[in-house]
Amino acid sequence: MALLVITTTSRGPEFLEGAREAGKGLDVRIWPDMGRIEDIRYALAWLPPKGVLKTLPNLELIVSVGAGVDHLLGDPELPDVPVVRYVDPDLSGRMAEYIGLQVLFHQRRMSEYQEHQRNRSWTYLPEPAAHEVRVGIMGLGVMGRAAIEVLRPFGYQLRGWSRTRKVIAGVTTFAGKPELDAFLAETDILACVLPHTPDTRHILNAELIGKLSRQGRNPRLPGPVLINAGRGPLQVEADILAGLDAGALYAASLDVFETEPLPAASPLWMHPRVVVTPHNAAESTARAITRYLVRQIRAHQKGAPIDNVVDRARGY
Ligand code: NAP
Ligand code: GLV
Repeated sequence: MALLVITTTSRGPEFLEGAREAGKGLDVRIWPDMGRIEDIRYALAWLPPKGVLKTLPNLELIVSVGAGVDHLLGDPELPDVPVVRYVDPDLSGRMAEYIGLQVLFHQRRMSEYQEHQRNRSWTYLPEPAAHEVRVGIMGLGVMGRAAIEVLRPFGYQLRGWSRTRKVIAGVTTFAGKPELDAFLAETDILACVLPHTPDTRHILNAELIGKLSRQGRNPRLPGPVLINAGRGPLQVEADILAGLDAGALYAASLDVFETEPLPAASPLWMHPRVVVTPHNAAESTARAITRYLVRQIRAHQKGAPIDNVVDRARGY
């Protein structure tokens, strides 16, 4: 009963080591050195090449290295076995830090202050207090809720949007497409932690940007802010740049991109109101991921319920 670690990133060896440590006695292999493929029952995967998982005839379980599973569900030949997404406080805590950091950064107009610092310019800018700013979280799952708990103590007016209705204390919630416009109209800073599915692809486009609250357009917050830590294909980068240049957006923080790594030629890199990070809003340690993986494998071996199985029809 072997586990195959399969990734096209450089993190393979740390996952191999972590899985060997956490799964004492577990036969762990690393793609492409698969050995006898008939032995492989479990896979830990991140961005696996399409078609590789289907070559494993006795595969029983696939565990995603990340919370997002679009990198797996995009494989037309994905074997029909349970796919488990990664859920752990080590991941959601990091996402909460990222969203908290970016919301505060733009509320306090830090990109402008950084520019002033470079110019040795002692310039005061009016800033809204947190309680005057409405932060809208797109996606009220594990990531969205962790972000809400980090933002709450600052006193932001919290809004949230999800596919199905949610009741969260202190948060005004909106559900589904029929309530999207109302959600956007009440949002000054939009933080997106949606999964990438056929329904959410390109949702962060010019039309959506145009529907964000105009209330943010006051001297204290010059316009709406967009933060995307969900997935790159949620956004239309040309629309974000056009929105920034036309003043429909004040600023943006982007952790994910249509093409990753973000091409050197992208104007996003040098835009004075854009924060670019290399898809590291939340990246868990190999130790936390492999501990979670081994828990799922052991549960599966005992016939006990496994956690966070992806609903393939929903796409997340
Ligand atoms: P989750 O617990 O499954 O939550 C997903 C949320 O999105 C749910 O609230 C869901 O609504 C909502 N949603 C899905 N499709 C929707 C639609 N069509 N319309 C409105 N709402 C929709 O997932 P999670 O753990 O929070 O992770 C979310 C995503 O964050 C991942 O898929 C991944 O892409 C991204 N992520 C990025 C990083 C990074 O480092 N940048 C790290 C971790 C995760 P319901 O509640 O109604 O189901
Ligand atoms: C990272 O992007 C994740 O999906 O966990």
